[in-house]
Amino acid sequence: MKVLIVYYSTYGHIHKMAEAVAEGVGQVAGAEAVLRRVPETLSEDVLAKMGAVEAQKAFANVPVCTVDELAEADAVIFGTPTRFGNMCGQMRQFLDATGQLWANGSLIGKVGSVFTSSATQHGGQESTILSFHITLLHHGFVIVGLPYAFQGQMRIDEITGGSPYGASTIAGGSGERLPSDNELEAARFQGNHVASITSKLMG
Ligand SMILES: Cc1cc2nc3c(=O)[nH]c(=O)nc-3n(C[C@H](O)[C@H](O)[C@H](O)COP(=O)(O)O)c2cc1C
Repeated sequence: MKVLIVYYSTYGHIHKMAEAVAEGVGQVAGAEAVLRRVPETLSEDVLAKMGAVEAQKAFANVPVCTVDELAEADAVIFGTPTRFGNMCGQMRQFLDATGQLWANGSLIGKVGSVFTSSATQHGGQESTILSFHITLLHHGFVIVGLPYAFQGQMRIDEITGGSPYGASTIAGGSGERLPSDNELEAARFQGNHVASITSKLMG
């Protein structure tokens, strides 16, 4: 069983969360986690102005995803930073190249799931994940979130991401906050949960 984790990250927060999702997938017998990035759409010049060049070097070795890899996977877990409460443009552009997959019904019945990150605590994590689900529904994905069986989303003793819609992290205004242990645990749980459900569906 192949679980594709496809993501975009400017400063590395989503990359770290993606690695934790992959760990969770790997805990399920017979599940293989495949990490992929969507293509960058910003110029080197713009990335330099955003202060992202150095950060992106840390995951430059992750292969860039092709749309055909979506069709080859049994489940797909998407990771995107929030952009004005929506998925980032890089992910949107990648998904907008999947018209042929839609026309062929290639993704119908696959498990789909989303995780995210934002600068601020209430900066649009839930809207990003829920609006992402719309595209997944058009493709016929069976959507899986992060159930309350992951009790870490109940915590109020510390600031934390994570909701029934999916794992998330809060990066801080200048990206200074790294994903917390609780947020990484949520990401692992989501990866494990998606792989377990996919295994049952393939049963
Ligand atoms: C154009 C743009 C729009 C953004 N919009 C939001 C937003 O609406 N809410 C928010 O909390 N953070 C927003 N951010 C911050 C990013 O979500 C944050 O940098 C990202 O989650 C960090 O993840 P990464 O390190 O994986 O890129 C925005 C950033 C950019 C560049």
